[in-house]
Amino acid sequence: MPRLVAEKRLVGVSVQQRLLDDDGYAALVQRAFDTVTPENEMKWDTIHPRRGRYDFGPADRVVAFARDRGMTVRGHTLVWHAQNPSWLAEGDFSRRELIGILREHIRAVVGRYRGRVAEWDVVNEAVDDDGRLRDSVWLRGIGPEYIALAFRFARQADPRARLFYNDYGTERPGRKADAVLRLVAALIRVKVPIDGVGLQTHVDARPIPRFVPTLRRFAALGLDVELTEVDVRLPDDRRDERAQARAYRRIAAGCVAVPRCRGIVFWGLDDRDSWIPAAFPGQGAATLFGEDLEPKPAYEAVRRALRAG
Ligand code: G3I
Repeated sequence: MPRLVAEKRLVGVSVQQRLLDDDGYAALVQRAFDTVTPENEMKWDTIHPRRGRYDFGPADRVVAFARDRGMTVRGHTLVWHAQNPSWLAEGDFSRRELIGILREHIRAVVGRYRGRVAEWDVVNEAVDDDGRLRDSVWLRGIGPEYIALAFRFARQADPRARLFYNDYGTERPGRKADAVLRLVAALIRVKVPIDGVGLQTHVDARPIPRFVPTLRRFAALGLDVELTEVDVRLPDDRRDERAQARAYRRIAAGCVAVPRCRGIVFWGLDDRDSWIPAAFPGQGAATLFGEDLEPKPAYEAVRRALRAG
């Protein structure tokens, strides 16, 4: 099975630390991809489970795995509304205290992996589906400025890491994409250090409307674009792997068509470990590899589309 290679683009996969002990899983990650994203290990509930107490073990394991194999790491994620520990989600902090907590967290986490994590999803999913800023402990406690603050703290902690805003549903036109465009344009205007936008790209097998023009709109702001969490789910009662391969091909070819689209990361290595069946009952089989770790038709479709670039 030839690896996925894209000239001038990184090709990656999200991994789960506990699966890296499986030799077949680890070998396949190394064989097919250039970069890994820890799927949960850098989220607050794992890495900062009690106030001021960090558990770097699971994230360290992923970072060491990558380093030992000459792979890079996308850090995910420094600020999110979900997967926060209860001390943070249910805490009663003043605005000033919460800014201090955010600063310390980013300093500790980004600082620890300085030079070893090439890029960070600094802020994840800050916009809701209607295009408003999403309710979260951060918005409530700090106000909209938490976004700019997080980017500034991250730049201070590792000036060379590339910093991303990451969201879902933004790979097609709509209120949400418009709102994210406005948000990142406003950040750029006031010189907030942001290098790119991550478009998660969790989709079904239908063509994504105006996909390439949407990538170009983000690139036109002078930002890099990455497809950061790609998967293509199928209904359980009609697992059409050919249709899935076509969908994956269109996504990879879309990235290749846009020079500022600098990377593509698949969410979950194989169909055993994908988040889709739990989140979308009746759907699944969303990844490039089957439960037997054999490549599905989508793998070859992606490989060809990337090679063509
Ligand atoms: O660690 C426990 C384990 O001990 C327990 O046995 C198991 C039983 O359910 O749960 C495990 O934790 C789960 C964790 O994934 C690891 O598998 C959590 O319950 C589950 O909520 C968590 O789901 C993750 C989800 O984010 C949380 O919101 C998914 O793996 C992960 O793929 C998903 O990723 C997000 C991105 O971060 C942001 N974009 C959307 C994407 C999909 O939701």
